[in-house]
Formats: sequence, structure tokens, C-alpha cells
Amino acid sequence: MKPKINNRKLTGGSRQPITDNRQPTTNHQSPTTKVFSYGKQTIDDSDLRSVAKTLKSDWLTQGPTVTEFEKKLNEKFGGTFASAVANGTAGLHLIALASGWKKGDIIITSPITFLASANCAVYAGASVNFADINEKSYTLDPGKLEEKLKKYSAENKKVRAVVAVDYAGHPCDWDSLKKLQKKYGFQLVNDFCHAPGAEYNNDTLYSVKYADAVNLSFHPVKHFTTGEGGAVLSNDAVFDAKIKTLRTHGMTKDPALLEKNDGPWYYEMHETGFNYRITDFQCALGISQLKKLDKFLKKRREIAKYYDAYFGKDDRFIIPAVDSKCRHAYHLYPLQIKFDELNISKKEFFEKMKQKHILLQVHYVPVHLQPFYKNNFGFSEGDFPVAEKFYEREFSIPMYPLLTKEDLKYITKTFTEILESFK
Ligand SMILES: Cc1ncc(COP(=O)(O)O)c(C=O)c1O
Repeated sequence: MKPKINNRKLTGGSRQPITDNRQPTTNHQSPTTKVFSYGKQTIDDSDLRSVAKTLKSDWLTQGPTVTEFEKKLNEKFGGTFASAVANGTAGLHLIALASGWKKGDIIITSPITFLASANCAVYAGASVNFADINEKSYTLDPGKLEEKLKKYSAENKKVRAVVAVDYAGHPCDWDSLKKLQKKYGFQLVNDFCHAPGAEYNNDTLYSVKYADAVNLSFHPVKHFTTGEGGAVLSNDAVFDAKIKTLRTHGMTKDPALLEKNDGPWYYEMHETGFNYRITDFQCALGISQLKKLDKFLKKRREIAKYYDAYFGKDDRFIIPAVDSKCRHAYHLYPLQIKFDELNISKKEFFEKMKQKHILLQVHYVPVHLQPFYKNNFGFSEGDFPVAEKFYEREFSIPMYPLLTKEDLKYITKTFTEILESFK
């Protein structure tokens, strides 16, 4: 039988030819006009030198630079073990597999996150549920999470893991999450992709102290980049060894694990893994970028301060709040505009900003409203009202270290001008 062809799928629907909507769809700088996307990498000559040196070395992949990058990640974020992988999604997938998530397990995450935070549970055959976000921090609301946990408890069901996301760079309420973990006994994962450099209780090393496993992404819009890349951090030697085996096809040469040993060439596979390896030259870029993380963070915080001062005095906007226990890392600057109260179309506003070369993004379309999650897990509109209201109002506005004072003036002024144009 001829397979049914879905033309809409073949044309890619409304997507641009570009496959990653986090990258600018236009050149950053045309000869006359700058184009501002919400995020962008900062690459300098030291990065080029670092990559070139590795390209000229004996190792292009799985060599000493991967190990060196992992060591630097541990030094910077306080984990005992780090495994660098192909991307952040691969990291989450491996966390799911190495943790043994399986069919029947329940994994809870935030509806305001990138798809991968939920998809990793689906990859492992587990079920996904969500708990609504807190109105101020936009991260998982521990009160709402406990409601879910209690409900499952009453049905004699146990939640296997909670994937908490330090959304935009604002740490979750980790003290409360930890208390819930003690009470209900689930695994705690930090999807930390937005927050390297954030502080919780004055500590930049908080992620691995609170969570059993921590996931990072080094996509170009993130704080520091390897092009594509990610890492899993933990304090658990057995867990980390599993991640390292699974990232390379599930192959092992460890004599302690082999069923037999035919010789020095011999390897065995005990479970299915993947090729989720990262290359040495990517890690060379990562090492060079990581050295500049503090400088990048300083710049991101200065930009946030500028935006806070500008938008904070206008009650048409809601600026991101920062909890007193936290220092924000500003991967994103999620600005809310009260479109509903102002009777302004978010879509029209977006288009008008685009005409002014400001390419906004929305983080995120609530995951539970994705057709896949609606159809497979029965979610519907109204399930997580705080997240849904946030989605109606949020735009991620340009936030990356290369922005100048002039750029910020232009961006903020344009916001006001466009809002006024609706009058
Ligand atoms: C919160 C979150 N989790 C996971 C990922 C996945 O990372 P990657 O794009 O490196 O696969 C991202 C990337 O955008 C993210 O923002």
C-alpha cells in the first residue's frame, strides 16, 4: 500500500527553512541595520585559537580535551562527576536512561520549559505530568507540586522524578523542593540549561548540592557555547559511569563488567546506548568560553538592570522578579506585556517589532498544550492557568553580552513607540 503523504508535514508547515528557531533568521548585522535576536553567542580570537589548536592535535573526538572540559565543568559548578555530551537533549535522555525511568513511571516537570525537559521522560517510556509555575519566579511552584504529589499518594502511585527547571536563569525554590523530595522520595533533576552562574543562598555551586542530576546545554544562545553540546553533572560515580557508557553505544571495556575477555580489543554491550559524543574541538571551544562566563554574566546582569529600570517604571510591563534567596543568571529576560488589559494583539506587536529589526521570541509555548501532550496525555487548556497566562504575556527580549548601551536605548525606545502606536 502506498504510504499516505501529509503535504503539510512535507512543507514543514510555517517553519522557516532554518531548522533551529533559536538562531536569528536574518544576518545579525546587515550593512546598514543591526538585527537583534533574543540571544546570541560571543566568540573572540581566544576561542578561535583554542579550537584551532585542538584541530591541529591528534584528537578530534573523545580525546583529552573532552576530559579536560569535564574537569573544568566540575570546578566551576561543584559536581564530582561530569559527562560532556552531544547536546542538552541528549543529556536529559541519558539522565532518564541511567536513572532507569521506564513505562509506568511518572515524571513531573514545569509547563514553561523547552520540550526536552518533558520529552526525556517520553523517550524512556515514562508518563509526563506537570505542576504549574509560581507567578513571580516562573519556576515550578512547590505548593502546586505538592498538590500533585498528594493526589498520586492517595491513589497509591509514586512519582519517580521531578525535572525542575531554573527557568530563564532564576533558580527554583530548591529548599522547598528538597523538603518535598524527603517527604515523597522522588529523584530530583535540575534542568540547569538556563542558569549556569546563578546563585541560590549565595552559592553558585547549588545545582549539584540540591539535585541528584544536573543537565546543561551549550547551544549558542546559552551562557557559553560549544556550538551544540551539553553535560550531565552529579555526585554519583555509578550514575556517571552509566552516562558515559550510554553516550557511546552502551559499550564497555571495563574488565570488572565484562562477561569474558578475549583481549585488549574486546568490548561488550550490555544495554542499548547512543552516539551522544561531543568532539574535542567543541570542548576546546567550551573551555575557552567557560573562562569568560563571569564576564558574560556581569554583562547580562548590567543589561537586566537597564531593562529593569526602563520597564519597571511603566505598569504596562511586568519585569522578572528575583527572589531574595537568588541571584539571576539572565539567560533570558522574560518581559510580560499586559496585552490582555491593553487590548493589543501580541501577534501584531511581534510583527511591528520585527519590522524594526527586533526579533522577539516566546519562552515557551506551554508544553502541556503541544498537540503531542494533549493527544497522548490528555492535557487541555486551563490545566495550568498561571503558565498559560504567562504565555499570553511573555516575550523574551534581546539579552546577550554583545549588546551595547546604544542598542539597549534603541530596543527600549522601540518597545514604547510600538506600544504607543496602538493608541
Ligand atoms: C531548559 C532547556 N532544557 C533542555 C534544552 C535542550 O538543550 P539542547 O538544545 O542543547 O539540546 C534546552 C535548550 O534550549 C533548554 O532551554
